[in-house]
Amino acid sequence: MPLVTTKKMFEDAYKGGYAVGAFNVNNMEIIQGITEAAKKLNAPLILQVSKGARAYANHTYLVKLVEAAVQETGLPIALHLDHGPDFETCKSCIDGGFTSVMIDGSSLPYEENVALTKKVVDYAHAHGVVVEGELGTLAGVEDDVQVEAGSESYTNPDQVEDFVKRTGVDSLAIAIGTSHGAYKFKPGQKPQLRFDILEEVSKRLPGFPIVLHGASSVIPEFVEIINQYGGSMPDAIGIPEEMLRQAATMAVCKINIDSDLRLAMTAAVRKYMAENPSHFDPRQYLKPAREAIEGMVEHKINTVLGCADKA
Ligand code: G3H
Ligand code: 13P
Ligand code: ZN
Repeated sequence: MPLVTTKKMFEDAYKGGYAVGAFNVNNMEIIQGITEAAKKLNAPLILQVSKGARAYANHTYLVKLVEAAVQETGLPIALHLDHGPDFETCKSCIDGGFTSVMIDGSSLPYEENVALTKKVVDYAHAHGVVVEGELGTLAGVEDDVQVEAGSESYTNPDQVEDFVKRTGVDSLAIAIGTSHGAYKFKPGQKPQLRFDILEEVSKRLPGFPIVLHGASSVIPEFVEIINQYGGSMPDAIGIPEEMLRQAATMAVCKINIDSDLRLAMTAAVRKYMAENPSHFDPRQYLKPAREAIEGMVEHKINTVLGCADKA
């Protein structure tokens, strides 16, 4: 099976009350860990590549690794550009084998976001590629953009129909209180998501797939392992998994997870290195790192996404 778009995935996810996981990939071990988990659980999958990932690993290497994963697993996998910053980056990914792109115009004034998103949609659709747009801004860090807590803004449901109609996007990322990175809430702060906004958006866009970014849960166990083995991460708080599960039963069809993979991988490497200080073969410490990714993705499929056996 070749790489697929997210079109059918999202139709099925919407109807079935589950979401597809969109996991960020940067190297072979991450791709293998994620795809092994999805294969074991027969789950559909979105592998997403950021601008930073392309700069780190090279576009062609990532495409070929993902193609290898498709060949090895036989799963429906979409290859998606995460947070496309401009038309040129989206075009380069569309021309270079991706089946889905995000154009992130969320920090632009509304009319500029509409115009840029429409330009990407026109090009993408002419090449059989689907597009995710974004309305509302999340706090946190993504690539080189840092949005301070307090400067984020929730999605305005009054804008979503107009945005989708005028741009022709295939899915829409909205801001309802999630944020990028490991530090989503301050210590003592109670994590909250604006389900009222999600509900209002889905009323305005019946049947339309919604995307949640910044959806890592920052499971304390992994931060504790990192700190136990020489790390010094301050208190990190993520989105409770039961809230994400609830969102997945609603209009949310794609849930983005990166930080939880980073934490699992880093915890595994730190632990291995501390317990085996004389080892220096990268295969020795990358094996548990890959297994940690696999375990985390299995956990997400079962606990948050609900997409096991939906491939
Ligand atoms: O939202 C951003 C993703 O976590 C990707 O992060 O830009 O550091 O690759 P990155
Ligand atoms: P997290 O930092 O919460 O994993 O979010 C990742 C993301 O939204 C990628 O686009
Ligand atoms: Zn994101």
